[in-house]
Amino acid sequence: MNAAVLQKTDTTATMPGPCPVITTERLVLRPHRITDATAIAESLGDFKVSRMLSRVPQPYDRQDALDWLVPHASGILPDWTLAITTGDDTHIGAVCLEPRRGQWRLGYWLNRLYWDRGYMTEAVAGTLERFFRRMPEAQVFSGAFADNLASLNVQKKLGFTIVDANQLFSISRNRMVPHIETMLLPEDFRRPARP
Ligand SMILES: CC(C)(COP(=O)(O)OP(=O)(O)OC[C@H]1O[C@@H](n2cnc3c(N)ncnc32)[C@H](O)[C@@H]1OP(=O)(O)O)[C@@H](O)C(=O)NCCC(=O)NCCS
Repeated sequence: MNAAVLQKTDTTATMPGPCPVITTERLVLRPHRITDATAIAESLGDFKVSRMLSRVPQPYDRQDALDWLVPHASGILPDWTLAITTGDDTHIGAVCLEPRRGQWRLGYWLNRLYWDRGYMTEAVAGTLERFFRRMPEAQVFSGAFADNLASLNVQKKLGFTIVDANQLFSISRNRMVPHIETMLLPEDFRRPARP
């Protein structure tokens, strides 16, 4: 076996492959497109959404969305950056799994008009189910600001456990904010039934 073959084998064992299309009961999760910029700007321009995220500036406009989309919609990154859409392809949020400093990190957000209907639990469950099928031994790390009870609840329902607490800078709040770190082992993953 030559070095090129060894290299290829190693890559397929540690990466989940291209960002898939995932259909859940009420949602279609698909790779992002440049044309999602307007919807993303509308959702993340809302401080009630961006204040719960660490890396989203405020104000946030279409150019900010385009700057984020160009690499993420190109397919050149190993990340899964899934657009959460309703049946008519309305973009209502995002779920992202990205390798950062050797760990798979989960992040997500939803347009405020769609909160409290169980959509994020459904979207993250569908994403993790597919991810663990491709990466059965991966651990997934996530977290939430300590005042984000809805997000911590989403993670708890899916089987995440709290592993640490620290302070994380929020760009939109322009200050350090208490933050809870969480982790999910594949064997702890559960898909909650919809009420
Ligand atoms: C966090 C977020 C993704 C949740 O999305 P969602 O679709 O409303 O979540 P779900 O409906 O699937 O689940 C939310 C759960 O939290 C509960 N919840 C909502 N608000 C709550 C609050 N203030 N306190 C306690 N629990 C709360 C809901 O009742 C639900 O639990 P249940 O199913 O047991 O009733 C959404 O609020 C959001 O996008 N927030 C801004 C961005 C963000 O926080 N991203 C995550 C960063 S870690």
